[in-house]
Parts: sequence; structure tokens; C-alpha cells
Amino acid sequence: MKIVIEKNYSAMSKTTGKLMSNYIRHNSMANLCLPTGGSVEGVYECMCKYLKAESISLSEIKGFNMDEYATLSKDDVNGYYYFLRKNIYSKTDIDISNTFAPATDSKDLQLSCEKYTDLVAKHGGFDFILLGIGSDGHIAFNMPRNNLHLDTHIENLTEDTIEANSRFFEKREDIPKQALSIGVGMIMQSKKIVLVASGKGKSKILGKMFNYRILDPKLPATALWLHPDVTFILDEEAASDIEIEKIKQYF
Ligand code: GLP
Repeated sequence: MKIVIEKNYSAMSKTTGKLMSNYIRHNSMANLCLPTGGSVEGVYECMCKYLKAESISLSEIKGFNMDEYATLSKDDVNGYYYFLRKNIYSKTDIDISNTFAPATDSKDLQLSCEKYTDLVAKHGGFDFILLGIGSDGHIAFNMPRNNLHLDTHIENLTEDTIEANSRFFEKREDIPKQALSIGVGMIMQSKKIVLVASGKGKSKILGKMFNYRILDPKLPATALWLHPDVTFILDEEAASDIEIEKIKQYF
């Protein structure tokens, strides 16, 4: 595992955007699994700028949603597919038929989950996952629980997450209470993982994860300790509770 600490959100976004555009340059047929959220908006903006400036093509790249709110269609402005289309797909030459998300508007959500896990496997799994982290330690929509799912599954969102994510919705009551999310097993099978976090709101959970060095399904991001190629790109505020001196021997 590697940790990179940047001064602020802007520097974190530039470093990660550059890393992703370089990755795409050298892996032009990669399967990317992509998150949404405030932490990655700046990353995507920078990445798209670098891709354009350096004429790097996404024509053979495949883009996979990491998660999606239950019952929101691909055209819903609050949906995660919409977010990715707005922030990446519409700004690049990606073939839109190579972009995928779980069918959250289906009547049978369990079947949608199974189909999505199969679809990802059929494409050979993920090569690169970009992750954010919730202030409770969730990754994708794998919420803190006694058990973590390996595959795509239906998640009942916790009150804390509904509260945190309601800032993107016009009214709090508009936010769906369920989502479909890839499981931790699918994340762990990705060849490469990069996690970004910014701001004081993420410092406590990152401190807990790094200072204690434990595996805890109630802090889902701790599963990443077991992966051979993970890079955390944090800003100084997000990293402020990590005891760098104590943990640096492990990196
Ligand atoms: C949502 C997403 C996660 C994301 C998290 C943090 O719950 N499902 O993938 O990491 O929000 O979002 P933000 O970056 O806005 O704090």
C-alpha cells in the first residue's frame, strides 16, 4: 500500500487526474470502475483536461459504474450513471456502448445484481478502480456491517450516508434508501486500486484505518490492506489523524 499526501483538494485532484490519464495512455483497453461524489469531481475534471491536452483516447476503454441508487434510471440527474456521463463520458471519446451500470430501474433488483456481477466477469473484471471513502469507512456502497458482500448486492443505506449524500439532492426526502453496489470481492479482484479522500470530515476514519492496522467489516475500507496494489491519495486535512511516523515502516 502507498500513501501520497497532497496539500489540498486541488493538488489531490491534479495528482490523481494525471495518474489516471497516464494509466489510460499505457492501458488503452482497460476496464475502469468509477465512483461518484465530491471527492472525485476535481479528479475527473483534471483527468479530462490531461486526456484532451495529450490526445489520449478512451475509444477502447470500458467504464463501469461502481454503484447506483435503486430505481433511478440512467437519465436521472441524481443518478450515478448520469454523474459519470456528465463528468467523464460526455467530455471524452469513450464509446457510450462501452459504459455499464447495474439496471436499478428493473423490477427484480436481485437479478440485476447477479447480471451485473456476471457482466463484469464476462469482461474480465476490473483493471483499475478509483474509490472514494465515506466518513464511516464505506467503499462503493459497502456499508459498515457484520458481514461484507463479495458480489453486486442491494444495500440499505445507513442514516449517516443518507444524511451525507443528501447534499446532492434538492430535497432530503428525494434520496433513495437503497442502492446496488459492487461487492468487496469485486473491488479486491481489480488489478489496481486508487482511493482519494479530502477534507477534515474523512480524517477520523482514515486515522482509525491506518493507526490500528486491523481488518474490520465495520470499517469496509480495511479490506484494502489485503490488496497488493493500492494507492491512497489524500490531502493534508484528510491525512491529519494518521500517525505517519508510527506507520511509515509499513510503506
Ligand atoms: C457515496 C459513494 C461512494 C463515495 C462516497 C463519498 O456514498 N457511493 O463511492 O466514495 O459517497 O463521497 P464524497 O466524495 O462525496 O464524500
